[in-house]
Amino acid sequence: MSKSLVRRLLWPTKLIALWLVAWVMSAALEPHLGRWGALALVTIALAVASLTEKRPWRRLALVLGFAVACLVSFMGGALNAVTWLGLLAIGLLVYPVRAWQDAPLFPTPADCLLPMTGAFPGQAGWRVLDAGSGLGDGLIALRRAYPTAQIEGIEMSWVLRFLCRLRCPWARLRPGDMWRLDWSSYALVYLFQRPESMPKAIGKAREQMRPGALLVSYQFAVPSLAATWSGQNAAGKWLYVYQI
Ligand SMILES: C[S@@+](CC[C@H](N)C(=O)[O-])C[C@H]1O[C@@H](n2cnc3c(N)ncnc32)[C@H](O)[C@@H]1O
Repeated sequence: MSKSLVRRLLWPTKLIALWLVAWVMSAALEPHLGRWGALALVTIALAVASLTEKRPWRRLALVLGFAVACLVSFMGGALNAVTWLGLLAIGLLVYPVRAWQDAPLFPTPADCLLPMTGAFPGQAGWRVLDAGSGLGDGLIALRRAYPTAQIEGIEMSWVLRFLCRLRCPWARLRPGDMWRLDWSSYALVYLFQRPESMPKAIGKAREQMRPGALLVSYQFAVPSLAATWSGQNAAGKWLYVYQI
């Protein structure tokens, strides 16, 4: 099994293992504390276990995922196994396993790229790419900042791509893996992924992008590399620009 596959499977395996432990604990506690008491205690235990995860969305998934599953099961089997499998299938369509190494769906605020336009005004016809374009919020932010650019996106999930096409009919969208796409013809590649994606992204940008081209990351910096430009938006979140 390749190292990257192991890395990708680590988080979901840990999540499922902790949920299983939580189920066993809750079954053992229920005769003594009642189901609500057991749920409360196990949720607290999961909240403590969730502190081993740095990312807030993972902590939420761990604690809320279990609590929601319990609440649904308390509804007396109103949701049967087929419905659960249906929900799982929808989840996998929105966030396919191959994308687990990078970020799930979090949208870029529409104005977040405007502050960089003073330093990098752009040019008409610039090709710009949102790598992992999700529902299109990054494309919308790119369009707001660079209205004369040619705006493109690549996204793995076909459900997100379908919805994104409805929202951003002016953008060129392609299916696929952003790491397999050649970035050499882009003047700007925008990313809103994960901290772990950044070393790989700068490596790819340096290898493929032309001198002067821009790698732009919302919220996550490249470790141990000073950004060419950085700025904070109104919500206090950082934008990092690396000029190749
Ligand atoms: C945090 S969201 C950002 C969405 C959009 N760029 C925005 O800023 O609103 C990350 C997106 O990247 C997609 N993604 C993750 N890994 C990918 C990959 N290797 N290739 C293409 N898309 C990927 C996910 O499916 C998700 O939609």
